[in-house]
Amino acid sequence: MPLRERRRVTGIESVGPYTLVRVDRGNLDAGVPGQFFMVEAPGRVLPRPFSLCLAEAGELAFLIDAIGPGTTAIAEVSVGDSLHVFGPLGNGFRLDVERPVLVGGGIGIAPFPFTRSVLGAGTPVVLGFRNSHFAEAAALLPGAEVVIDPVLVTEALPAGRDILACGPEPMLEAIRRIDPAAQLAWEAPMACGYGACFGCVVEIDGTLKRLCLEGPVIGGAPAVFPAVPA
Ligand SMILES: Cc1cc2nc3c(=O)[nH]c(=O)nc-3n(C[C@H](O)[C@H](O)[C@H](O)COP(=O)(O)OP(=O)(O)OC[C@H]3O[C@@H](n4cnc5c(N)ncnc54)[C@H](O)[C@@H]3O)c2cc1C
Ligand code: FES
Repeated sequence: MPLRERRRVTGIESVGPYTLVRVDRGNLDAGVPGQFFMVEAPGRVLPRPFSLCLAEAGELAFLIDAIGPGTTAIAEVSVGDSLHVFGPLGNGFRLDVERPVLVGGGIGIAPFPFTRSVLGAGTPVVLGFRNSHFAEAAALLPGAEVVIDPVLVTEALPAGRDILACGPEPMLEAIRRIDPAAQLAWEAPMACGYGACFGCVVEIDGTLKRLCLEGPVIGGAPAVFPAVPA
């Protein structure tokens, strides 16, 4: 059940180039791995969507890649500040698979510490990063197989596994070509997160749909082409 709450920042850590922001959980449900939360920094008009990275006792944590004004405002909060947090939203990963492997690219690793905590610490993980500084974020997933550009995650995929993946669009497209049944967490700009603004419309199986409602995780060989709403 999604709730919107103002939560207190309890911790901030640098993880390679990313920032892990912890908030006290309050009444918020962690939801299913792969679902997302709309998080809004103090004084900003629009929230931004984030996967839940960690759900530990009394806390939720988000891994932030500060690429623009919204993400930077969240990455620059201080302990004791408040964030508006709304979620969990959308559809997460189906976890009832026999032999999961988690595949993350760059900031796409964000949902997988929580996912592995639910699936079990022995769940294999393959992570890809652009350089060794970015690869420091693999510390969030001990024991993961890590590849660095120009080696791609698709070259390190174990055979016979049920793929759960999150990462840049070309990575997801490459995985979909290898395994049309892979569960893929897609991204689109989202202003509301609950179906009201149509800002996240994408083409799925030839039909325009709102990714915040139909996704962000989509599996079973859909055609997904992020598109500008008509
Ligand atoms: C379901 C979901 C989960 C996400 N989880 C995380 C997460 O865990 N950690 C994290 O750091 N980021 C995550 N993101 C991406 C994050 O929401 C965006 O980077 C953020 O909204 C950018 O806001 P900004 O104001 O900082 O930058 P903006 O100024 O809004 O954007 C900077 C640049 O990035 C592009 N852009 C912005 N948002 C997106 C997007 N969603 N997809 C593609 N391009 C975009 C813009 O066109 C622009 O070129 C997620 C996105 C979605 C949809
Ligand atoms: S983000 Fe508003 S409709 Fe999807």
